[in-house]
Amino acid sequence: MKISIVGLGYVGAVCSACFANEGNDVIGVDIDEVKINLINDGKSPIVEKDLDIYVKNAVQSKRLKATTDLKFAVKNSDITIISVGTPSQTNGALDLKYIEEAAKSIGEVLKEKEDFHIVSMRSTVLPGTAKDVVIPIIEEYSNKKLNRDFGYVSNPEFLRESTAIYDFYNPPLTVVGASDEKSAATFEKLYSFLDAALFKTEIEVAETMKYAANSWHATKVTFTNEIGMVCKKLGIDSHKVMDIFCEDKKLNISSYYMKPGFAFGGSCLPKDVRAITYKSKEVDVDTPLLNSLMISNEYQIKRVLTQFIEPLRLKKIAILGLSFKADTDDLRESPVLTLAEMLIGKGYYLDIYDKNVVKARNEGGNRALLEGELHHINERLTDNLKNSIENADVLIIGNGSQEFNNIEKKYPQKNIIDLVRITKERSSELYQGICW
Ligand SMILES: NC(=O)c1ccc[n+]([C@@H]2O[C@H](COP(=O)([O-])OP(=O)(O)OC[C@H]3O[C@@H](n4cnc5c(N)ncnc54)[C@H](O)[C@@H]3O)[C@@H](O)[C@H]2O)c1
Repeated sequence: MKISIVGLGYVGAVCSACFANEGNDVIGVDIDEVKINLINDGKSPIVEKDLDIYVKNAVQSKRLKATTDLKFAVKNSDITIISVGTPSQTNGALDLKYIEEAAKSIGEVLKEKEDFHIVSMRSTVLPGTAKDVVIPIIEEYSNKKLNRDFGYVSNPEFLRESTAIYDFYNPPLTVVGASDEKSAATFEKLYSFLDAALFKTEIEVAETMKYAANSWHATKVTFTNEIGMVCKKLGIDSHKVMDIFCEDKKLNISSYYMKPGFAFGGSCLPKDVRAITYKSKEVDVDTPLLNSLMISNEYQIKRVLTQFIEPLRLKKIAILGLSFKADTDDLRESPVLTLAEMLIGKGYYLDIYDKNVVKARNEGGNRALLEGELHHINERLTDNLKNSIENADVLIIGNGSQEFNNIEKKYPQKNIIDLVRITKERSSELYQGICW
């Protein structure tokens, strides 16, 4: 394929050399003449393992050339990959000046181009950047239309400096957020030499996924360092702890717990987070990340009230599913219980349906708890699902019990606030998922 790559820093230089080595005709563009001359001399513009060899091979085989002439590069290619820098501004905001500059220049060239062209974003840009910034600039300066005259692909880069070439050939995955099928298919072909899974998705999903990945990586480093500091103070080998920790591929290093939804609760997580953060305090180790967990979790409960329930201005509410997990009667630190107490405190008329909790009460299991400490919950507790639903204006799905499946289809006239993503489709206008 004929590719132009705008910005020959770490990402652009590596992509240029590697795509050229895969048999593509690559024209690299930069505003920095030093980089251009180095590449055209067959040398790497950056210090990076093996890049010299890749650049030399690519230039010698005439698959790679570099230029400051963006017009020439875009005119003589079918795909333009943007890999200019996206630094932070002093206030932390993302600085898009290089992206905007590149988009304008590309737009001006596309104005004179007949053929369908694909513009791809390899730089890291925030969700919405394509829709709100890059595509409008290209359309304005080219007088062309997205999908009719040009396609757009968000294709974030996951390479790490020092192992960039290896990472290019062995990415964890490839994300192709394309504006149209044709552009998606072209990128699938472009990456066909890779073994990694390729995910075709929406542009905004691809943009966001990169930030989720980097925030997650930063969280892992910070979490591990906090555990390490506590271990050191306690005279425990943190590397032994984390080595074993990482062997748990079911709960620790896995997708478990990684579905956006409601607050954590139950008999272990809140208690144990409190205990380890208390212990850290006791041994004088600051653990801001661990300390933030309970605070963030409480926000997640309050948000349901302030962002979803209060704006509806309806007073009759039914909570469907009170126990922390479906098919259990365990109420220990159930975040739904906390939500129910908030609603009672705010004067809502509340029905709480949970057949397991009612069963355990009737059989005596949790009777003492419900008739004593939780009598305010007990008064509202029922095992009549139909009545609860019919008497309420707003239904809150509190756990993933199967009996709540398809509830939004059965009761399209009811406001539904789903804490657990009981449904993947949003078939009713009145249905709201709390973080999806
Ligand atoms: N460095 C990494 O390890 C890495 C990894 C993944 C993603 N990213 C992302 O990729 C993007 C690029 O990062 P980088 O480290 O390669 O940046 P970099 O600063 O090393 O390189 C950017 C290059 O773009 C050039 N440039 C700026 N404006 C230009 C223009 N209008 N026309 C042509 N060239 C122009 C600059 O001269 C520079 O050579 C960033 O968004 C970054 O967040 C970087």
